[in-house]
Amino acid sequence: MTESVPAEVSVADLTLEEKASLTSGADFWTTKSVDRLGIPSILMTDGPHGLRKQAGETDHLGLAGSVPATCFPPAVGLSASFDPELAERVGVALGAEAVIEDVAIILGPGINIKRSPLCGRNFEYMSEDPIVSGVLGAGVVRGIESKGVGSSLKHFAANNQETDRLRVSADVDPRALREIYLRGFQRVVEDAQPWTVMCSYNRLNGIHTSEDPWLLTQVLRDEWGYQGIVVSDWGAVNDRVPGVAAGLDLEMPSSGGRTDADVVAAVRDGRLDEAALDVVTERLLELVRKAQARPAADGPLDVDAHHALAREVAGRSIVLLKNEHAILPLTASQSVAVIGPFAEQPRYQGAGSSQINPTRLDNALDGIVGHAGQDSVSFAPGFPLDGSGDGFALRRDAVALAASRDVVVLFLGVPAPEESEGFDREHIDLPAVQLEVLDAVLAVNPMAVVVLSNGGVVALPFADRVPAILETWLLGQAGGSAVADVLYGTVNPSGKLAETIPLRLQDTPAFGNFPGEFGHVRYGEGLLVGYRWYDAHGLEVRYPFGHGLSYTTFEIGDAAASVNSDGDVAVTVPVTNTGSVAGREVVQVYTSLRGSAVQRPPRELKAFASVPLESGATTDVSLTVRRADLAYWDMRVDGWVVEGGRYVVEVGASSRDLRTSTAVDVDGDALTFPITMESTFEELLADPIAGPELKTVVESQFGFDNDMVKMLANFPVGRLDGFPLPRAAILALVERAGTNARSIGDSSE
Ligand code: BGC
Repeated sequence: MTESVPAEVSVADLTLEEKASLTSGADFWTTKSVDRLGIPSILMTDGPHGLRKQAGETDHLGLAGSVPATCFPPAVGLSASFDPELAERVGVALGAEAVIEDVAIILGPGINIKRSPLCGRNFEYMSEDPIVSGVLGAGVVRGIESKGVGSSLKHFAANNQETDRLRVSADVDPRALREIYLRGFQRVVEDAQPWTVMCSYNRLNGIHTSEDPWLLTQVLRDEWGYQGIVVSDWGAVNDRVPGVAAGLDLEMPSSGGRTDADVVAAVRDGRLDEAALDVVTERLLELVRKAQARPAADGPLDVDAHHALAREVAGRSIVLLKNEHAILPLTASQSVAVIGPFAEQPRYQGAGSSQINPTRLDNALDGIVGHAGQDSVSFAPGFPLDGSGDGFALRRDAVALAASRDVVVLFLGVPAPEESEGFDREHIDLPAVQLEVLDAVLAVNPMAVVVLSNGGVVALPFADRVPAILETWLLGQAGGSAVADVLYGTVNPSGKLAETIPLRLQDTPAFGNFPGEFGHVRYGEGLLVGYRWYDAHGLEVRYPFGHGLSYTTFEIGDAAASVNSDGDVAVTVPVTNTGSVAGREVVQVYTSLRGSAVQRPPRELKAFASVPLESGATTDVSLTVRRADLAYWDMRVDGWVVEGGRYVVEVGASSRDLRTSTAVDVDGDALTFPITMESTFEELLADPIAGPELKTVVESQFGFDNDMVKMLANFPVGRLDGFPLPRAAILALVERAGTNARSIGDSSE
């Protein structure tokens, strides 16, 4: 690096105009420089799973070209690995490519919760679960930033749909917001401190996130201790002046100077405190300093090495949904009919701002030929991808081919135009033409493996009729080879579903509340997002959250759990590879609290580990459930509270394949509630000072009648109106009670 912010430059050296100028971009991708003081400009670039560095025309929709870069599996694939170390390795590779391209900040990862399978951008997001999103998101951030490059955690927050995304208000209750939609962001911020956080386009409970002091300062900085800068999503700024006061440091892209002038005018006429602008400027100077400290590249891009990593990650992203009669892996001696255009023209990423110009592109057909040899493999398209051409002839030829081969590998998927940033899907069905080909093929050859390519979940009405299904999501540039690796068993599948595959769209949590109307979307399902919903409602699903098979089998032994000195719950469980090949199991820990004082889903994922095991090997897997992750958001105190009690700890291979269960006693957080005349009879009775007295008095007058107590339990004591005690006696008790401190869930009194 040649330029750097001189160490002695401070906010005080900048004029008001210069400070304002730093708060918005110079153009589409760079910040402004201040030449007089030697403050350079820095470059940002999309996107989560590869670099989209535009050398010519610029845009934020992936329309104009970009320099070649490795296209790793989008988040929908990577998250199926349930492996933060793998995510970190991808981050390291992204960071290395950024260094080579002189990019200071990569705009990713995206960790918004998959609230509905219809969200057009689900392929860019990790999971329906905040712990999965947060743990993997932190891995990506750590990896990128280990190379001296910044990341941008996006889109903060509650950007869970594309419909009306620049205006819609996500109307979310405090508990769901904290426990589901913010929890992953909190995890990444606290664990990995990304250089930047990108605010979302939408409004949150009526307020534009780009000018929400509660979100950008109170929650992000004051509560979570965030040190970095907040950048706007591209075009998310509604009104720049309140944005500065709220903690939005950088507006992107350039406003052509318009909003800088607004900021200057607002300081001049007293609407904006210059001190707020100084804070933002200081943070921006710090960002530029960090960017300028970036070490030089080790050398040019090692295309082969990064392609190999993309292939490894793609292999880890594939989820084996079903494998009856061990039809998979295939052997090279079997003759194979490969059917479906996706085998030749892979769908490997989604459309929009994350669209990468790959350095290379593998297809599965070549990969299959590579494993089985040209003579064993024949291909027929089977159906047209765009609906054009002679569909009947394509189907006829494919069926004839299928009938004459040992096995069929049929590639089905969502056509690219149906999935993109910018709009949501309208349904979760595969095109009818594809399902017709599947039926016709099954009629002549039941030995069929379905390989799915899709960024968002699809309904699988045929699941019971085919012996094997591989969910391959979108796998990046080496996905074709990885699919073949899994089909032929050189890679043993280990991916797990980071989102539930429902039976029907009508069963999904947000159905009826998505995508909202007239500028508002109500998160009516509250906490019950993803598997939390299906479990709470006792609904059947096609494949549950956490599901994924292997070519080997694993035994999960008896789990043990105890609270360690940090207050976290340490879980250990022996896992054995009981099959004949090496493989990986993703061990999943779910907790629940029976009889909780608050509403809870039946179980929630709190820890997981991806465990490699040789055939026959056993290992004791240690996992940690953080005490903080047991907390619920308590609306009475506006804070996290760990409820005391006996937590059930279930460990398994999916949310519905729980193999072992144990329990652990956790002390609750002490909460202080003053007893007032608004406290209920039950609360007064539970008070350690006033309670026994109240009980004695009531007992002496009426006998302690449980039915009566039950009826009175909910009455605020101030409204009992003389029964069972005179108001003056109640008042005296309330005064004596004063403050009642006890642990939530603590029934010791
Ligand atoms: C997207 C962001 C992206 C930005 C820049 C926006 O439309 O929402 O995710 O980083 O454009 O391309």
